[in-house]
Amino acid sequence: MDRRGGKGLISVKRSAFRHPAVIAAGSASLAALLALNVTAFVRGMDSPWLLGSVIIADMVVVAVGILVAMREVLVADERSKRAEDSIARAQFALVESEARLAAIVDSAMDAIITVDAAQNIMLFNGAAEQMFRIGRDEALGAPLDRFVPARFRATHRGHIEHFGKTGATSRRMGVSTLWALRADGEEFPIEASIGQAGEPGRRYYTVILRDITLHKQHEDAFKQQQQELRELSAQVLEARETEKTRIARELHDELGQLLTALKMDLAWLAERLPVAEPELAAKARQMNEMLDQTVSSTRRISADLRPLMLDDLGLADAAGWLVEDFAKRSGIRCEFQLNGAALDDLSKSVSTAVYRALQESLTNIARHSGAKNTWVVLALEDGSIRFEVEDDGRGISPEDLAKARSLGLKGMRERVIHLGGSLEVARAPRGGTRVRARIPVRGMLQQAAAP
Ligand SMILES: Nc1ncnc2c1ncn2[C@@H]1O[C@H](COP(=O)(O)OP(=O)(O)O)[C@@H](O)[C@H]1O
Ligand SMILES: [Mg+2]
Repeated sequence: MDRRGGKGLISVKRSAFRHPAVIAAGSASLAALLALNVTAFVRGMDSPWLLGSVIIADMVVVAVGILVAMREVLVADERSKRAEDSIARAQFALVESEARLAAIVDSAMDAIITVDAAQNIMLFNGAAEQMFRIGRDEALGAPLDRFVPARFRATHRGHIEHFGKTGATSRRMGVSTLWALRADGEEFPIEASIGQAGEPGRRYYTVILRDITLHKQHEDAFKQQQQELRELSAQVLEARETEKTRIARELHDELGQLLTALKMDLAWLAERLPVAEPELAAKARQMNEMLDQTVSSTRRISADLRPLMLDDLGLADAAGWLVEDFAKRSGIRCEFQLNGAALDDLSKSVSTAVYRALQESLTNIARHSGAKNTWVVLALEDGSIRFEVEDDGRGISPEDLAKARSLGLKGMRERVIHLGGSLEVARAPRGGTRVRARIPVRGMLQQAAAP
């Protein structure tokens, strides 16, 4: 309602007769009239004109008095009529605004339920009717508990009472998923907030609820899909590993043996070459050198694919060889700390994950860090394997970690998470980069090895 308009409606102009100047003038005139009357009373018989004029003056005053009184009555009447009018209008505006508020509450998409201090329902909007599948008439006056699954009732009631004592005006309800109960007995997940108003003793609480059944279904489906993808990626990694192992074995065993045989044959042939043909001997030497190169290339390719040492000797030796080979090839100083005797009894999946993580971390240091020093820790402690690779290079940034096409660190994380572990890649306290992983090995020791 317009405030100025409202004020105009209620205020009535004050009567002009109540102005102090008018009252003073009126009193003076009355005093003069009284004096005139006294004079006329004393000397009236002597001067009939005085008597006459006093009578006329008296009559005029009486007439004016009557007129003023009539006017005042009329004004007062008008004033009370206007006051009644404005009260009626204010009442109408109040009813109208209440109706508007009720319409807003009723058209809200979220369920809105107000309860009194005893937690009995005072307001139940349209969305609440739909959500709880019950009519308003039945819900009003019922305890709020009716819409809370039985096993949560006591705690829920306690929470609302506690909230009443905190004095906070509103807050989100529940830290984890909350559950509500429809009239037909179906439970459903909700998101809710609560607010309070009123004074102690006459406090009431308003709960705003949203049905998140669909949302939760999507979330569960999403989690399920993520889990499936994770399993798929683990399977792909494992298949790749198996394939690499097979090729590495074949290169090492088959090709290695054939090359050795070839080398022996060449030696046999070289011995039998005619001495008169030095060119042939030179050719044989050249071939022998090429054979040596081929043998070492085959070994290197095979070891890069999969160090057979990892399967034959275990993680500790394979990691040691990897670190040594890295230091030799890159020229970066490398400190290797190995703790834990049982490192060689790890399951194939754990030792492969750690070995690949170490390989990727060292390759990254050589490719990206510009470091001079590297520290590697491999330890078995508290039922898990701790793995740390740190360098003193340029350090890693959040943008580096988010690179879409970089799959090294992501693959590392996938492997570790699949084994129930955790991995952290961050800037190291010394300024470079630090990769830290922890993988539980309880029950994984000597587990039936994957093919
Ligand atoms: N030790 C490191 N020092 C500095 N930057 C690094 C280091 N390791 C990784 N990075 C950065 O993180 C990015 C992602 O690494 P990664 O996932 O292994 O993918 P890729 O090596 O194929 O680029 C790299 O491109 C590089 O910019
Ligand atoms: Mg990489």
